[in-house]
Amino acid sequence: MTKHDKLLIIDFGSQVTQLIARRLRELNVYCEIHPYNKIDDALLAALAPKAIIFSGGPASVYWKDAPMPPKGVFDLGVPILGICYGQQVMMHLLGGHVEGGQGTAEFGRAYVTKSAADCPLLGGWFEDGAEQVWMSHGDHVSKIAPGFEVYGTSPNAPFAITADLSRQFYAVQFHPEVHHTPKGAKLYENFVKMAGFTGDWTMDAYKDQAIAAIRSQVGEKKVICALSGGVDSSVTALLIHEAIGDQLTCVFVDHGLLRLGEADQVVSMFREHYSLNLIHADESALFLGRLEGVSDPETKRKIIGGLFIDVFQKYAHTIDGAEFLAQGTLYPDVIESVSFSGGPSVTIKSHHNVGGLPEKMGLKLVEPLRELFKDEVRALGRELGLPASFIGRHPFPGPGLAIRCPGEITAEKLEILRKADAVYIDQIRKHGLYDEIWQAFAAILPMKTVGVMGDGRSYDYALALRAVTSVDGMTADYYPFTHAFLGETSTRIINEVKGVNRVFYDCTSKPPGTIELE
Ligand code: XMP
Repeated sequence: MTKHDKLLIIDFGSQVTQLIARRLRELNVYCEIHPYNKIDDALLAALAPKAIIFSGGPASVYWKDAPMPPKGVFDLGVPILGICYGQQVMMHLLGGHVEGGQGTAEFGRAYVTKSAADCPLLGGWFEDGAEQVWMSHGDHVSKIAPGFEVYGTSPNAPFAITADLSRQFYAVQFHPEVHHTPKGAKLYENFVKMAGFTGDWTMDAYKDQAIAAIRSQVGEKKVICALSGGVDSSVTALLIHEAIGDQLTCVFVDHGLLRLGEADQVVSMFREHYSLNLIHADESALFLGRLEGVSDPETKRKIIGGLFIDVFQKYAHTIDGAEFLAQGTLYPDVIESVSFSGGPSVTIKSHHNVGGLPEKMGLKLVEPLRELFKDEVRALGRELGLPASFIGRHPFPGPGLAIRCPGEITAEKLEILRKADAVYIDQIRKHGLYDEIWQAFAAILPMKTVGVMGDGRSYDYALALRAVTSVDGMTADYYPFTHAFLGETSTRIINEVKGVNRVFYDCTSKPPGTIELE
C-alpha cells in the first residue's frame, strides 16, 4: 500500500520469524514475511525486495519436499542473510553440504569466536572476545559452498558465521533475533546498512502515506467503523478521520460491560475533542437482559459476540450509502505462518471480534494498520496526538467485565466490580506501577463470604485482584506486589466499596492460568 524500501523475509516455519521482523522494524526498515510455499519467482519480482532474509525452521534440507526458496532468489543480485535452517538451505543450494548429526546438535547458549579477517556483517562484534549467541539446530553445515568463507566458529558449529562477500550472501547458524544473542540487533543493523536501507520506515512518514492511500481507496464514499476505545480501533478511526473527515462515522457499541466512567470518556474524547461523527449505541439493557441467568463462560462470550454484530449492523444501516468498513487489523493477524504440526489447535476461549461482518453486510474493508505491529500502532497514535496515558492503557477484552464476573452477571455485581477495579487501578497508578504491568484488573467472585465489620457480621462478595507482566499476552507472570501494597489495597477496597468484605490476590501465571478469569 505505502512506498518504502522493502526487505523480504522468507519464512521456513521458525517459531521466532516474527522477531526478525520486529528487529528490522526497530531499525526503521520495512519488511514483509512471506511463507516459502506461497512465494514464487513472479511474486519475488513483484515484491522487488532490496534484501532478503531466510528464516530458521524445523525442517531438514534432506526431507522429501523440504522447504526451499524460489529458484531465482540467488540471481536477483540482492544481499541475502540466511539464519539457521536458512543457512543450511543456502549451503545446500549453492554447493555446500549439510548433515544431520549425532553429537552436533546445539540448543541454547553458545559462544562464537572470530575466525577470519573482518566481515562487514560483524561490525561491533568481537570487540571484547567471544560473543554469546543462541543456537537451536539439529542439522549442521559440514561443508561450505564455493565462494564462502568462515568468519566465526563455536565449539559445535565450525561454520557459525559464513559469508560470500562478493555476492553479499551471509549465513549464520544461530538466531540473532532472540535476546539471548545480545548483539544480534547489531548484526541486523550491519546487514541493512550494507543493503542500502535508509531507515525510511517511520510512523511520521507512514501517517502521510496511509492518509493518501485511504483517500485514494475511499474517494467520496462513506466509511463506518466500530470504535471500542481500545488503541487499535482508536488509531484506525483517527487516521481515517484525518484522511476523509465527515465521510467517517464511528459506532461505539456500549454493551454495559465497560469500566467506571469509560463510556463517557470515549464519547467525550472522540465526539468533543476530535469532532468525530460518533454514534453512542447504548444497548446495555439489551446485553444485560440477554445475559441474565447465563453463567457458562463460552455461552456468555457467544451471546456478547453475536449481539455485538447485530447491534453494530442495526446502527450501521442507519448510515446511508456506507460502502466501507474500517477495521484495526494488525500485521501479526495477517501474517500467514508455516505450520508443520498440522491439525487444528485447541480453542481455549472463543475471542470476541467482528470477523465475518464485511461479507455479511456487503462492505469493502479499509484496514490502515495491516502493515503495523502493536508498538508501531502506538507510535502512530502519538503522531495523531492521542495522549500518552491513553496509548499506554492496559488491554481490555471485547466482552469487557462479563469475563471478570465469573458465573452469573448481575447489575449489582457489575457496580461493585466497577468501583473496586477503579480503586485497584488508582492504587497501582499512585504507586507508580501502572507501566510495569501488562494488565491489571479486579474480578468479582461468584461467592459470598462471612466477615466482621464494626460490631456486625457481614456476608458479602469476595474479589480477586489480578496483575500480570507479559510481552504479548500469550504467556504471563503474576506481578509480585509487596505485601504492604496488597494490604493497603485490600483495606481501601473494603472501606470504599460497599458489598465486598474479602480480597484475594491471584498469583497464577499463564500457563496454567489464563489472564482473564473466563
Ligand atoms: P487470556 O485470558 O486468554 O487473555 O489469557 C489473553 C489476552 O487477550 C485478552 N482477551 C480478549 N481480547 N477479546 C479481546 O479483544 C476477547 O474475547 C478476549 N479474551 C481475552 C485478555 O484481556 C488478555 O489481554
